[in-house]
Amino acid sequence: MRFHAQYVWLDGNIVKWEDAKIHVLTHALHYGTSIFEGIRAYWTGRNLLIFRLEDHVERMFKSAKILGAKIPYTADEVRRAVIETLRANDFREDVYIRPIAFVSTPTVTLDVRTLDVSLAVIAFPFGKYLPPQGIRAAVVSWRRVHNTMLPVMAKIGGIYVNSVLALVEARSKGFDEALLMDASGYIVEGSGENIFIARGGKLYTPPTHASILEGITRDTVIKLAADWGMTVQEKPITREEVYTADEVFLVGTAAEITPVVEVDGRPIGDGKPGPTTKKLAELYAKVVRGEVERYVKWVTPVYST
Ligand SMILES: Cc1ncc(COP(=O)(O)O)c(C=O)c1O
Repeated sequence: MRFHAQYVWLDGNIVKWEDAKIHVLTHALHYGTSIFEGIRAYWTGRNLLIFRLEDHVERMFKSAKILGAKIPYTADEVRRAVIETLRANDFREDVYIRPIAFVSTPTVTLDVRTLDVSLAVIAFPFGKYLPPQGIRAAVVSWRRVHNTMLPVMAKIGGIYVNSVLALVEARSKGFDEALLMDASGYIVEGSGENIFIARGGKLYTPPTHASILEGITRDTVIKLAADWGMTVQEKPITREEVYTADEVFLVGTAAEITPVVEVDGRPIGDGKPGPTTKKLAELYAKVVRGEVERYVKWVTPVYST
């Protein structure tokens, strides 16, 4: 995949992609002190719709609060920066949007509270992140970092080394994606996705206090499932519950709703995407394109038509 577009939003200016540069002593480059989001916008053929923009920007500010850094913009300014970036590039296809606030002062001081924070918004055309027909996952040896050690609820750059190590391990063994256990051995997340399992007609997902990112897609799925009377129970999930589940799927902005058809060489169910996963994925595809009246509130149109 090649990530490219014409323009980037950087500290209040639209600059050419090639000119969106920072200094090598940038604090975030050394210590992982960046706060970022991954957002998608979908091209409907008539307009570009950003999915749950408000919720993503809100999470950014929560992440900054947890880190102790101050984003020098209001939430409204960040939302407008995202829209401005998409308009500047005049996208007419599905895109991925990466707003990033990063501690930019060139210093080796660790106390970020008084340091400068820059904001950039990068967006580029983006298709499927994982194969939508189903993936083969492996439970990896790296454990999900516990939230008493790093705030996994926050989308902070440095925390992603945990995900990088997990995915490198899974991919180097020939799998598509990693499943991470927490320190107690419960399965908590994929490297960049939340996990759901279906067992005996019920859906389960780990609770938010279980060292997971409080995913926006996770929240979307819980609400969509509730609409057809299927409650999602938040509970710790064991490895053997995953192996013996009827269905397993991963959810995230990039992964959307991806069926897991095999874990550690064991087929999940009959080794094909299950009916609940398929139904949710189809509904999700409509919701993000503003086709479901009840959830039109979740999409922000980019162009005035
Ligand atoms: C570790 C991790 N878990 C879960 C998710 C899913 O979160 P969301 O649905 O908000 O994209 C992501 C992606 O952002 C992630 O990086």
